[in-house]
Amino acid sequence: DTQQQAIQGLSAWVNQSGSTLHIDSIDPAGQITGHYINRAQGYGCQNTPYPVTGWVYGTAITFTVKWENATEACNSITSWTGFYYDGVITTLWQLVVNKSKNKKQIIQGQDVFKPVKQ
Ligand code: BTN
Repeated sequence: DTQQQAIQGLSAWVNQSGSTLHIDSIDPAGQITGHYINRAQGYGCQNTPYPVTGWVYGTAITFTVKWENATEACNSITSWTGFYYDGVITTLWQLVVNKSKNKKQIIQGQDVFKPVKQ
């Protein structure tokens, strides 16, 4: 039909911490390929791109970053889950560190992503 898809490939999104989600492509099944640049203060692995994998299902979205690239490894993974509504992607996230032993070690938070004009 002619209805526009909420979340498109080749789009970029910035959150309240200045981090950016770059969606490079979304395949016909809804699988996302992209990269993420973390700019949130108080965290490692800032300012270089990390691969993103995930899914969109209509307005629902989930995506994951393993914080390891050629520049820096942070021994951790973050997954965001959320939805597109009213022009923004609202998410809850969890960050887990390699060798965690207690669920209290899973750090949780919220990020809201606004579109970056390109
Ligand atoms: C780490 O410090 O272990 C890796 C970087 C984590 C950055 C987190 S992911 C959730 C939150 N949203 C961001 O954009 N950055 C922080």
